[in-house]
Amino acid sequence: MKKVLLVGADGMLGGELKERLEKKYEVTATTIENLDITDRQAVLNKAKEVNPYFIINCAAYTNVDGCETHEDLALSVNGLAVGNIAEAAKQENAILIHISTDYVFAGDLPIDKVYTEDMAPNPVSAYGRTKLVGEENAKKAGKYYILRTAWLYGLGGKNFVKTMLRLSKEKDEISVVDDQHGSPTSTTTLCEIIEAIMEKEPEYGIYHSTNEGFTTWCKFTKKIFELGNIKTKIKAITSKEYKEMYPQSSNRPTNSQLSKDKLKNVGIVPTNWEKALEEYLKKELE
Ligand SMILES: NC(=O)c1ccc[n+]([C@@H]2O[C@H](COP(=O)([O-])OP(=O)(O)OC[C@H]3O[C@@H](n4cnc5c(N)ncnc54)[C@H](OP(=O)(O)O)[C@@H]3O)[C@@H](O)[C@H]2O)c1
Repeated sequence: MKKVLLVGADGMLGGELKERLEKKYEVTATTIENLDITDRQAVLNKAKEVNPYFIINCAAYTNVDGCETHEDLALSVNGLAVGNIAEAAKQENAILIHISTDYVFAGDLPIDKVYTEDMAPNPVSAYGRTKLVGEENAKKAGKYYILRTAWLYGLGGKNFVKTMLRLSKEKDEISVVDDQHGSPTSTTTLCEIIEAIMEKEPEYGIYHSTNEGFTTWCKFTKKIFELGNIKTKIKAITSKEYKEMYPQSSNRPTNSQLSKDKLKNVGIVPTNWEKALEEYLKKELE
């Protein structure tokens, strides 16, 4: 059995991934309680102790709005600490799998265009900036996969779907942004992609790793309510209107649609976002 060091194992993605990988790999799973990834020496020591074949980094500071007011902390966790993990991977000759985000892009492409892995990032938020530093540091591992995901939701964490389900019970009408375009992605699909990458070991590099298909936050909400048979009204608003309502909120890309051609070219075909959402809601609403 190959050994895996999984860091950030109690997060939304990390928790589900841990459960799945334990069936096929010898997994050492760490959380901030026993391995703070900002502690370089602790990361190097843990990697030496485990001597893993793969190191998977699911740890991050993921509060996008919070990153605006705590950019130093975000930089330390999302950016600089990834350098510690990459150094540990290099030290052990391990393959690093690091999770990044669509928010590294500016999102100013026309809506009929998608971002490919070779296009230049240019983040418009503190979260995106700090995750981009993380990408640059992840590359120092030498043997690395950077998987850019987006709009992530799963059973084991706070996420947009759960927020909409909660708000549907509290309000008669919900205002949701309808001019930001991207791909909702279930943690289950992302786990499937990670496992396929681990099995196939394609060429090292960046892979866009989301569910297939694109939508807006507003249309995403409409689908959640349709599948959940929820009657709460939804009002489509613009990003500008949202910003007026919540001035402290972070800027977000208008179009962060990611091409999955590179992933498909190595034989990994993600599920469509609507299908993945349906499967998630079956469990969430049980
Ligand atoms: N959620 C999204 O919509 C989204 C979108 C695109 C990309 N991503 C990326 O996907 C990955 C997984 O996201 P997620 O939603 O599963 O995140 P999450 O639920 O917020 O989990 C992140 C985990 O990292 C831990 N952590 C924070 N600081 C740490 C530190 N210094 N040392 C060790 N662990 C630390 C957190 O612990 P505490 O909870 O105790 O702080 C948490 O358990 C991240 O790389 C994220 O940037 C997420």
